[in-house]
Amino acid sequence: MSETVVLAYSGGLDTSVAVPWLRETQGHEVVTLTVDVGGGVDAAAVQARALAGGARRAIVVDARAAFVTDYIWPALQAGSLYQGQYPLATALARPLIARLLVEAAHEADATLVAHGCTGKGNDQVRFDVAVAALDPALRVIAPMRVGMGMTRDEELAYARERGIDVASGPSSPFSVDVNLWGRSIEAGVLEDPWTVPPAAAYEWTVDPADAPRTTREVVIGFEEGVPVSIDGELLDGVTLVERLNAEAGGYGIGRIDHVEDRLIGIKSREIYEAPGAVVLHAAHAALEGLTLSRELLAYKRSVGDRLATLAYDGLWFSELGVALRAFVTHTQRYVTGEVRMRFMPGTASVAGRRSPHSLYDIGLATYDAGDRFDHASAVGFIALWGLPVRTQAAARGSGVDGTTTLLDELGADRLDAGSLTGAAR
Ligand code: ARG
Repeated sequence: MSETVVLAYSGGLDTSVAVPWLRETQGHEVVTLTVDVGGGVDAAAVQARALAGGARRAIVVDARAAFVTDYIWPALQAGSLYQGQYPLATALARPLIARLLVEAAHEADATLVAHGCTGKGNDQVRFDVAVAALDPALRVIAPMRVGMGMTRDEELAYARERGIDVASGPSSPFSVDVNLWGRSIEAGVLEDPWTVPPAAAYEWTVDPADAPRTTREVVIGFEEGVPVSIDGELLDGVTLVERLNAEAGGYGIGRIDHVEDRLIGIKSREIYEAPGAVVLHAAHAALEGLTLSRELLAYKRSVGDRLATLAYDGLWFSELGVALRAFVTHTQRYVTGEVRMRFMPGTASVAGRRSPHSLYDIGLATYDAGDRFDHASAVGFIALWGLPVRTQAAARGSGVDGTTTLLDELGADRLDAGSLTGAAR
């Protein structure tokens, strides 16, 4: 009896070839699963192509709302940027797709799931490990990794021989992955990290040089760390991110050029377009700066970094990931309020923030009238704060060595009173 495999199916050339390849060379029944995470899925066309390739069933699911709620928002709340730069668009979608693959496999009595990743990237790791975390009994087969290797022309011919209608337009000069949280672009001329990315690499963002010269203010509202409104208008998460992608992208905001470290040990030059993610990360951080204590902010930053690495490394469903996300959720109780962002060509900057839970106290902060801060108490505070340093210096000296003084090294000009000549006066 043949086994059933559920294939993560984008509808592109590789996975369209994988459908008949899995049937013909592996003897599997194939069910395809296409997950819309905001990459633009033509459901009818994708299903027709899958069935033409011999799939027994072609499933399409719009998972955009779940992607925003369960993956994008937690990563935003954590402030997770891989290596401080990459908002993780591709990495965050993988555990969601893996979960749906596992559910579809159970529904179809499948013993296998499949994906179209190559053996060189992060995504194979994410799929394989996420599937293992959700159902360790399922086996994973990745045709591109185990012998399907065909050139593009061979794939086109293979598909045509089987009557599969695949786009035969010019092949993209890049490898691209798209979802709501960003566009990931790699390969081709981008492989030289010194090469300026050509205009053709970008689709969501205009060249900042062509952006409007006028600035635009956008007010983003948050409820417990979740973005809920733009300029006072309440929006669902999908619409909110889409709108920011369009508007910030129109200002050339959100281009990221990153030489990143892949999990498998390769350095890789990657271009990202993530206008909404860049704006929201900046806005969210600004609101946290107003509403969270210094201690919590500092600790939380290390948690966000760790969660970024876990997501990047395919460990979204690990116990550590679950526990750290619970911590982040707890920190967001007071992250409610609004942030004023200013869009300018190529950048979005924070121009103001307010919150009903603000820890900012004007009576303490002001240098003007109304100052309630007890200046005298600073003296006692500093005496104790500096005590260990004072003790150390008294016992061991200042630690600043040098035979000459810095004043002498810098050639300070010393002018004594009464030293000027009459003429100079
Ligand atoms: N380097 C990114 C990551 O590992 C994106 C990879 C997406 N694939 C692509 N074809 N650009 O998450």
